[in-house]
Amino acid sequence: MSDSIILGIESSCDDTSAAVLKGNIILSNIAANQEIHNEYGGVVPELASRAHQQNIIPVVRKAVDKANIQQKDISAVGFTRGPGLLGSLLVGTSFAKSLAMSLNIPLIEVNHLQAHILAHFIDDANPQPPKFPFLCLTVSGGHTMIVVVRDYFDMEIIGKTIDDAAGEAFDKIGKIFGLDYPAGPIIDRLSKNGDGNSFKFNKPRIENYNYSFSGIKTSVLYFIQKEVRKNPDFIKENLNDLCASVQQTLVEILMDKLEKAAEELNIREVAIAGGVSANSALREAMQKNAEKLGWNIYIPKFEYTTDNAAMIAMVAKLKFDRGEFTDLSVSATARYDI
Ligand code: KG4
Ligand code: ZN
Repeated sequence: MSDSIILGIESSCDDTSAAVLKGNIILSNIAANQEIHNEYGGVVPELASRAHQQNIIPVVRKAVDKANIQQKDISAVGFTRGPGLLGSLLVGTSFAKSLAMSLNIPLIEVNHLQAHILAHFIDDANPQPPKFPFLCLTVSGGHTMIVVVRDYFDMEIIGKTIDDAAGEAFDKIGKIFGLDYPAGPIIDRLSKNGDGNSFKFNKPRIENYNYSFSGIKTSVLYFIQKEVRKNPDFIKENLNDLCASVQQTLVEILMDKLEKAAEELNIREVAIAGGVSANSALREAMQKNAEKLGWNIYIPKFEYTTDNAAMIAMVAKLKFDRGEFTDLSVSATARYDI
């Protein structure tokens, strides 16, 4: 293992993050969240790019200082090339290119989705990293997919959402309840005091390992409109139970397909990744399956679930060790297959 020092930069959505990885050890992982979007109920791309522009230098400085290294010690710069919001990606990409050029060190592009999955290989992420091949349910605000991971850079998407992402479903349903953006963590918190069996919402019937979340969002909307006409305080009086019921349904939808894939492909190494993998009910469901179905499960630490630069640095390190560098003429890309 090389004792390289990698600086990772993440700017694909609304978090500006920088991390320093030495060998396989994370020395710092700094993120600036953009609260500006909360009042709009979702990420406003134009505002996100501007905030990245303001945050990127202080965040990188903080990451370097906290890691207690000098800029000259950095072996390579890894950055998120895509997928994500183009205006946001451009800020991180331009910054990484300039830094690599001025320090005369290699530049390494990273696929954001691969990074969510490969975060499991950060030294302090798991007592044991997953063994290949493993399944990874990758669930975030922009993506929901089941991936077969055969090797670090040999991944196949076997199922994905045909409409909204799971995180988007949490956020949009939360908005119907009048919750701030992002609603996922708030629904998770309120659910702890609610009963998940209080309200029933239909689950979609979708083929193969694919997902759909727009139907449940619409059925929650119609249900709420109907109840609020009868009782204007309906949401307030039932908020915890509503959150718990929605969360339970969303987690069941996610787990049904993951279980089907694990059984049909006969894979018992099962991981979750992405922002929604912070969800406590999803974590509990994984734990249950470890006991019931004999899965070896891999659940990321909270700081490696939502967008972070530690996972970007991790992938950059794997590529650094293989000598896979990126030309300085590279440009960001909003769409980027794994
Ligand atoms: O991976 P991520 O930080 O950004 C994207 O790449 O999209 O994921 C953000 C998503 C948001 O939709 C947020 O509501 C959701 O992850 N999320 C959660 C929880 N924490 C974050 N959803 C449910 N429960 C949580 N505890
Ligand atoms: Zn993400």
